[in-house]
Amino acid sequence: MKHWVWLTGEVVTGLLLGAALSVPTALASSSPNGEAIYQKACAACHGPRGRGNPRHAVGFETPLPDFSDCDFASREPNADWVAVAHEGGPVRAFSPMMPAFGEALSVAELRAAMSHIRTFCADKSWPRGEFNLPRAQVTTKAFPEDEVVWETRIPDGETDAVFNDLIYEQRFGARNQFEIVVPIGWRENTHPMADDQWRSGLGDIKLGLKRVLYDNMERGAIISGIAEVSLPTGDDADGFGADTAIFEGSLAYGQILPANSFFQGQIGVDVPREGDKANEEAYLRLAAGRSFFFDRWGRPWTPMLELVASRENAPSADTEWDAVPQLQIMLSKRQHVRLNIGWRMALTNDDIRDDQFLVYLLWDWFDGSLAEGW
Ligand code: HEC
Repeated sequence: MKHWVWLTGEVVTGLLLGAALSVPTALASSSPNGEAIYQKACAACHGPRGRGNPRHAVGFETPLPDFSDCDFASREPNADWVAVAHEGGPVRAFSPMMPAFGEALSVAELRAAMSHIRTFCADKSWPRGEFNLPRAQVTTKAFPEDEVVWETRIPDGETDAVFNDLIYEQRFGARNQFEIVVPIGWRENTHPMADDQWRSGLGDIKLGLKRVLYDNMERGAIISGIAEVSLPTGDDADGFGADTAIFEGSLAYGQILPANSFFQGQIGVDVPREGDKANEEAYLRLAAGRSFFFDRWGRPWTPMLELVASRENAPSADTEWDAVPQLQIMLSKRQHVRLNIGWRMALTNDDIRDDQFLVYLLWDWFDGSLAEGW
């Protein structure tokens, strides 16, 4: 009886609503109710408010994520969460205690459940993880991140040299990130009397701050401001430093495009403290790419192309252009360890400027330790 009343109630409300809003019935029934799906399929473990039910209630040890914790939830893109819900925890190297719903629920229903999960983090000042676009070799991302990156640059020149940057990035607050870059290099010793074949040196250590100024999921756009200073810690006699502090200011822009494509841009200036030791320079960096999936729920392969322009602030200076074709590969199942291999080609003055082989290894440490997630 109760059941029947509920059913009639629903039908009557549905009809009334349908008539009042003149929503075509087909459309109304094809947009699933995310909250109802969540409460029925997910809440038994994840809790009615997304905080995770206590251990004694769920009967297993694996800790449940807290979807109301914006710091955690905001950075995970929906596509990854749908993959986990569809295929089960192991698809991203999580516990099999997170079951696969791919046979019980459609992708549209899982997306609807995600929209409900999104309501658990009430603070909208946290930019969404969808804006964490693949890191290009030269163009800085607008998204603030928790990452350690090892970058290596090998110029294709007369003398052998290897330059490395060890980069540590950490978020603080909803929209900020700080960064420390420690450059270390090796250079072939070309001096005829030299004993050692190679010289090693520390470069100019760089400190940076990034803040998200604008983000809008509907437009798919994010803009950040970045301020950096490189300190004259490098061994300038060995060619590993500028021997003066250099201040850098830039704006970084990220744009999500259809079909897993994206565009990123950065525009900025470098201003040395002592103008006779290093040059003022302005730059423009553009990166476009697209992620391809060989297996729908698996790892993306992301080819990108960057165009990089820079110009010294001197009357006779030319604008130098480089192109950087590159490929980013996801190494870990968790998608927190990534490799990028690229080639930086001088498009202008290529008789005096070397091409460079570029490679980076990136670890998103917030998503798990280096040993986890494979
Ligand atoms: C039987 C209990 C259970 C049910 C039911 C369940 N989950 Fe989970 N879920 C888990 C556990 C346990 C984890 C944590 C796995 C880990 O950290 O290794 C998890 C993790 C997740 C994550 C990954 C979060 C991250 O760390 O990035 C998502 C997303 C998720 N669940 C979504 C859902 C959705 C959507 C539903 C309902 C359609 C659902 N879950 C139903 C147990 C469950």
